[in-house]
Amino acid sequence: MVTIKQATEADIPALLEIYNHVIVNTTAVYDYEPHTLAMRQQWFATKQQQGFPVFVAEENGEVLGFSSIGPFRAWAAYKHTVENSIYVAAAARGRGIAKLLMPPLIEAARQLKLHTMVAGIDASNEASIALHKKFGFTEVAHFKEVGYKFNRWLDLKFLQLIL
Ligand SMILES: CC(C)(COP(=O)(O)OP(=O)(O)OC[C@H]1O[C@@H](n2cnc3c(N)ncnc32)[C@H](O)[C@@H]1OP(=O)(O)O)[C@@H](O)C(=O)NCCC(=O)NCCS
Repeated sequence: MVTIKQATEADIPALLEIYNHVIVNTTAVYDYEPHTLAMRQQWFATKQQQGFPVFVAEENGEVLGFSSIGPFRAWAAYKHTVENSIYVAAAARGRGIAKLLMPPLIEAARQLKLHTMVAGIDASNEASIALHKKFGFTEVAHFKEVGYKFNRWLDLKFLQLIL
């Protein structure tokens, strides 16, 4: 059975592996090189300092996915807005794991009295767009050719949920 829990430091290597697989194989993350363990540890420490949750989906002790929120943009007046991230291990996709990871994230954002959640999604990422729409996100922006990866230009969509 897949269960959702708050991530701990012990989960970081598994989160790193899931994230790096996405970087190397997809346009879901606009980065070229795999991240190091130190980078993911710093990322996790920053989440804790900022008071933002990180959830993991686990089955038989194995981490199959994670979700989190973080600042949307650095300026003060954006403080009631967050951007989300959600990743599921390639071998575990299509089993409803993202559908389990999303509700606690939205609930945590509401508990933190945040006002809106933004998702920046590569325009070709139909699974993520469908997932977010399922949870009430609506498309609010479509940026043309703002990314470049795998020798092609990438369009980025912003979807938004008012909390
Ligand atoms: C996007 C992602 C998180 C979805 O995770 P998942 O656990 O496979 O998704 P689920 O099985 O919970 O499916 C949730 C919904 O997403 C949509 N979806 C999932 N896979 C899909 C696919 N291959 N094509 C179209 N829609 C899909 C469906 O609406 C689905 O709901 P339904 O099964 O009731 O129809 C996963 O594919 C992933 O990690 N991809 C790589 C990283 C990524 O793109 N992250 C998001 C960055 S914005």
